[in-house]
Amino acid sequence: MRQAAFGPLRESVLAQASGEVLEIGFGTGANLPFYASHIRWVAAIDPNPGMVSLARPQISQQPRLAGRIHWIMASGEALPFLTDSFDSVVSTMTLCSVPNISSAIQEIHRVLKPGGKFVFLEHGQSPDDSVRRWQEWLTPYWKHLGDGCHLNRPMARLIHAQSWTLLSLTNFYLPGVPKPFAYFYQGCAVKTGKGQNRD
Ligand SMILES: C[S@@+](CC[C@H](N)C(=O)[O-])C[C@H]1O[C@@H](n2cnc3c(N)ncnc32)[C@H](O)[C@@H]1O
Repeated sequence: MRQAAFGPLRESVLAQASGEVLEIGFGTGANLPFYASHIRWVAAIDPNPGMVSLARPQISQQPRLAGRIHWIMASGEALPFLTDSFDSVVSTMTLCSVPNISSAIQEIHRVLKPGGKFVFLEHGQSPDDSVRRWQEWLTPYWKHLGDGCHLNRPMARLIHAQSWTLLSLTNFYLPGVPKPFAYFYQGCAVKTGKGQNRD
């Protein structure tokens, strides 16, 4: 994936995060430069213990956020937080890799306060038949090469399984990337109602 192309995309996603924030799949902390200084704090979760040594230097390079980024080893499918805890949940290029995506979306919905925002930038299933066929064919192999990454997840449909008001959803192919890897879902959903499991 072309990292330079992600800067403006991350910026527009993170501009919508405020208050007490949960970021799932924090990775190396690539979103940190884009958090607004007014956020209260960020619970940065990742289940991979190896990520903390990569994330820490990034965290210390953001003195404007000093003391407000808390790294926690946890999985999106079992968030160690109370119901209705966060003003915003951020997920960028993470839901493709979470083994049980339906549980993770249910958990995101649960931990958001009513009226809280889920902001996301995820790649997934293309609406174009020829691209989708490639995604289906490649995913079993790509999962092994790409640390569990699925190319073929219908992100909008999976997110819709909870009670949200979708404030925005933009779909696009990232230029310069082969299409099966490049179909993106960028959006913002507001929690309405109680969580539900429609599996
Ligand atoms: C492609 S990286 C994206 C990292 C970061 N979000 C970004 O935008 O650069 C995917 C991340 O998801 C994390 N991840 C994998 N399984 C997860 C799970 N079950 N719950 C939460 N995060 C997970 C990985 O450890 C990795 O840090």
